[in-house]
Amino acid sequence: MNNSESENVDTLIYNVRVATMAAENPSEYADVSAIAVSKGKIVWMGKAEEDDCPTAQTHFDGEGQWLTPGLIDCHTHLVYGGHRATEFEMKLKGASYEEISKKGGGIVSTVSATRSLDEASLKAESQVRLISLLKEGVTTIEIKSGYGLDVKNEIKMLRVARSLGRNHPVTIRTSFLGAHALPEEFGKKDDYIQYLVDEVLPAVHKEGLADAVDFFCEGIGFSRSQCETICKAAKKYKLPIKGHVEQLSNLRGATLVAEYGGLSVDHLEHLDEGDIPALKAAGLVAVLLPGAFYSLSETILPPIAAMRAQQLPMAIATDLNPGSSPIASLLNVMNLACVQFKLTPFEVLLGVTRFAAKALGMDHQIGQIQLGFDADLVLWPIDTPAQLCYGMNLVKPTLVFKAGVIANE
Ligand code: NIG
Ligand code: FE
Repeated sequence: MNNSESENVDTLIYNVRVATMAAENPSEYADVSAIAVSKGKIVWMGKAEEDDCPTAQTHFDGEGQWLTPGLIDCHTHLVYGGHRATEFEMKLKGASYEEISKKGGGIVSTVSATRSLDEASLKAESQVRLISLLKEGVTTIEIKSGYGLDVKNEIKMLRVARSLGRNHPVTIRTSFLGAHALPEEFGKKDDYIQYLVDEVLPAVHKEGLADAVDFFCEGIGFSRSQCETICKAAKKYKLPIKGHVEQLSNLRGATLVAEYGGLSVDHLEHLDEGDIPALKAAGLVAVLLPGAFYSLSETILPPIAAMRAQQLPMAIATDLNPGSSPIASLLNVMNLACVQFKLTPFEVLLGVTRFAAKALGMDHQIGQIQLGFDADLVLWPIDTPAQLCYGMNLVKPTLVFKAGVIANE
């Protein structure tokens, strides 16, 4: 190792096998075994025995373990109050998600539970779920609002999300999901959409609480034209769009997100294959949510073969929420993505790193081990990256670095 003062860096991680996730297939994992980090960024990649290997203040011997980018959960609803275990029992007796929702259960029941909590209690409940993800090497999480459904409570949810990001070694990206369900105090969906556009989104934006705007385009959510009203408002504030689309039926919400140049289209079980070229042309990411597919006992799969054939980037996320995906584990969902959606472990790893970053508009900063990228890195005691996907609760990180600092001690 070189001792030149000018090349002094904070940290050198050496003797690691590196899945940079920059390559297109698993046979092209990078030919480097050492990574240097300074001021939270990756500043050098190579081999420790090379002449230009910088001198570091701290050294970590990876002992031949695998290093991946920090995992990214790009679609969650992890800030909420209460639980929906009773609804779970109703579902087991045969009631559908839609029937429960029409009877005032579902999302609206979590709205009551979330509204009833003050900010500190909501944070305490949500933090438990956040910590469960962090323990698995997740270093970036997207969190949606959508259980407040009025100015005060949407702001409360988003403040909690931001404050979790300040108090834990994780980057939090927030999405405003006012158009999630019709709150009980409104009779007409159109009136509620107008209220969102006139009052809630402006208040949220004024506090800088939203990084993106989302909607639920569905029979039990909102129509395509109601969602378009939301898109127009988002555009006014220059906020990127994401959509819950084609989950239970096909309202062609995905092409709406494409028309508005959004970031991602999420769920997609009922996507029409013919819409894939438009999504690809718009540079969208298809965010697949196997946890919701599993928990709702769905039978229709997203058109994965066609997406793969057309090279539409696919991300994988937990959709962590109290109803359709009560699963606080990205690693378990990675397994579901392989077992139920038949994705390859390499596709899944891309889906929780590089393509998840793209779904958040952060693909130049996180999701790959590359020069200049954030040093969000996870060291795994595994022989092959496929081991991350092949089972449940078998693997936990040895070390997690968030912006170059050890985060899992
Ligand atoms: O992504 N589809 C709508 N929203 C959530 C479900 C939220 C809930 O059931 O509380 C989802 O599946
Ligand atoms: Fe969701």
